[in-house]
Order: sequence, then C-alpha cells, then structure tokens
Amino acid sequence: AEYTIGYFVGSLSAGSINRTLSRALVRLAPEELAFTEIPIRDLPLYDYDHDADYPAQARALKDAISASDGILFVSPEYNRSIPGPLKNAIDWGSRPWGQNSFARKPTGIIGASPGGIGTAVMQASMRSVLSFLDAPQLNTPEAYITYKPGVFTDAGEVTDETTAGFLRHYMEEYSAFVQRVLAANAPGHI
Ligand code: FNR
Repeated sequence: AEYTIGYFVGSLSAGSINRTLSRALVRLAPEELAFTEIPIRDLPLYDYDHDADYPAQARALKDAISASDGILFVSPEYNRSIPGPLKNAIDWGSRPWGQNSFARKPTGIIGASPGGIGTAVMQASMRSVLSFLDAPQLNTPEAYITYKPGVFTDAGEVTDETTAGFLRHYMEEYSAFVQRVLAANAPGHI
C-alpha cells in the first residue's frame, strides 16, 4: 500500500453498525490504501488545562493523525450531530492552539443509521468542524448509508452488490482525493 489512512469510528457501542461499516470500507478500498484505526475510547474529556502536558493517549492520537496521509470518519449521528466521544477526540487533535493536527489533512466522512437520513445531519456538522480546522474534505460522492440488517455481515462483508459497488466507488474517489490533496500539499506547490 502506498497511502496510510487513519480512521475514526464514532461509536463506542459493542454492536456498532458503523464499526461494521468501517470493516466493509477497509475490505472494499483500493489496494493502494492501508488502514489503521485511531482509537478514541480511552481519551479523557478535553480541557485546555491539559495543553501544557498532553496525556499519553492524546499524544498518541495526535501522532497517529500526523502519520496518516488521510483521515476517514465513520460515525453515527447522535441527536442530529457528532457523537460526544468523537467530538472530544477531534478537540484533542485540534489543540494545543497552533498545533492543529488536522490542518491540510484530506478527510472523508461517512456514516450509517437505521433511518433514512443516514447520518446526513451529523455529516453537515462535521463539515463545519473540519472546515474550521482547515481540513480539506471529499465533497462528492456523499455517502449517507441506511443500514439494513442482512446487507452487512459482522465481519464487514457486503452481500448486496449495489451497496458493495457504491462503497467501492466511494473509496476509489476518496483515494483519488487524498492523492490530489497530497500533491497539492507537496513542496513547490502554492
Ligand atoms: C441515536 N440514533 C440516531 N439516528 C439518527 O439517524 N439520527 C439521530 O439523530 C440519532 N440520534 C441518536 C442519539 C443517541 C444518543 C443514540 C444512542 C442513537 C440512532 C442511531 O442511528 C443508532 O443507534 C445506530 O445504531 C448508532 O450507530 P452505531 O453506534 O450502532 O454505530
């Protein structure tokens, strides 16, 4: 693989459908991408008193973001917004002031819900946050996944070919986007 992708799963639930979706995305992604999950479960709640001396989990998170060529968020929608644990992780990554780990990082946002909105409102919230953090985002295709039992196995196999084809296309476009942003970020470009 040529590009390293750090991915966040925005749910801590044992039966998370978004974790299952993340497994499917890793399976269907083009071979030039290698994936590492960036864990969020053990992060304390952020406050700026930590800025002078970040705890180990938060340093590991910032290092993992920095080491990634691209970031992928796979998250549920909670009350029409970003789940608290994921927002907390983003807040850690964004600080201390002047050391925002997300700056210029190519990002993708995808999520699943049982309902028809398919995390669209969470994704809109996420776009405001990532824009503020100067993180370029894949704009199209958008991916609002309505999770239907039977379409995904727990291991992330996708049994429905239309869904598999859509997710494969999403990851191909995401890969191309990451490569475009990396090229634009390279020394010598404005
Ligand atoms: C939800 N759920 C939900 N679904 C949705 O489409 N829009 C929403 O705003 C919310 N809000 C919400 C809040 C809270 C606190 C919970 C626990 C759930 C339902 C949610 O989509 C469903 O529980 C998914 O299974 C969550 O994804 P994971 O955790 O299974 O990946």
